[in-house]
Amino acid sequence: LLTLALGATACGARGAGADGGGEDGYTIKFSHVVTPDTPKGQAAERFAKVVDETCGDQLSVEVYPNSELYGDEDELQALQSGAVQMLAPASAKFTTIAPQLQVLDLPFLFDSVEDIPKVVAPDTAAGKAIYENPELAKRGIKVLGLWDNGLKQLSSDDAMTQPSDLRGLRFRIQPSDVLRSQFEEWSAETTPMAFAEVYNALQQGVIDGQENPYSNIESQNMHTVQKHITESDHGYIGYVHTINKEFYDSLPAELQTCVDDASAEAATYNREVAAKLNDEAKQVIEKAGGTEITELTDEQRQVFEDAVVPKVWKQYADVIGQDLVDELLAQR
Ligand code: LMR
Repeated sequence: LLTLALGATACGARGAGADGGGEDGYTIKFSHVVTPDTPKGQAAERFAKVVDETCGDQLSVEVYPNSELYGDEDELQALQSGAVQMLAPASAKFTTIAPQLQVLDLPFLFDSVEDIPKVVAPDTAAGKAIYENPELAKRGIKVLGLWDNGLKQLSSDDAMTQPSDLRGLRFRIQPSDVLRSQFEEWSAETTPMAFAEVYNALQQGVIDGQENPYSNIESQNMHTVQKHITESDHGYIGYVHTINKEFYDSLPAELQTCVDDASAEAATYNREVAAKLNDEAKQVIEKAGGTEITELTDEQRQVFEDAVVPKVWKQYADVIGQDLVDELLAQR
């Protein structure tokens, strides 16, 4: 399969690599970096299942979880070259090619998971920045939807109830300038790193901490090498569900519709399960007993928030869009 993936054309057609598929039909290789039992992993499987059940035998989906085919360093390149046809990277992974997507990395953009759907609906200013992103379109990346993981928590070996507790600690970040500034305002150091490397880096002390929703922490066993988690709900991990546009355009119209419908169904399913999967992961961490979870009081959370909002938001207004940032600030 690996050989096939490396030799594939942007069309992802099975058989002799002929453009547009032909008798053998079409295959969507869908690569991602998390485990199958996370909000993204479950949505990817649901997408594959719906395609399998409703799109006929001309289209199939192969899901490759856990960075096993491509990881953070090379998956976006693989999508653009057509080595894979589908991805759902977290917004921060697009920073280099579509910096405006950092809007989703703005700290405290959401107060709770219930706020997410209304802030990022396709017809909102933030939604348009994602769904109609010109940089992605220019690179032949078509946006199908936005999936949630949920809100991020802080983990490290030190207890963290105020920003100054992070002083001198080094946090792994996704490659986003907004995230770097967020941690700098909390007086911490940062190292950008691929998701697949985080567990080892924590275990070996290359980094002191990281930020992620509970499902990502638990499924990577990060809690087994972190003594403290601060439930800060300070930021969002959301996934831009994307498809190689050349491949999509090569599909017969009825298969395009089928992909759109399967994608919509996977997005609905994702929103149904994401919060539950994070709650379950939190319970697993609590039961394991080696990590102390501290839920911030409203006042404590406010101190973290005041250190970064509006400062970091305004700092990135030129990248994200002044109008968009002004509108988001006005909505608060
Ligand atoms: C991370 O790199 O921490 C996350 O974006 C991983 C993921 O895909 O949820």
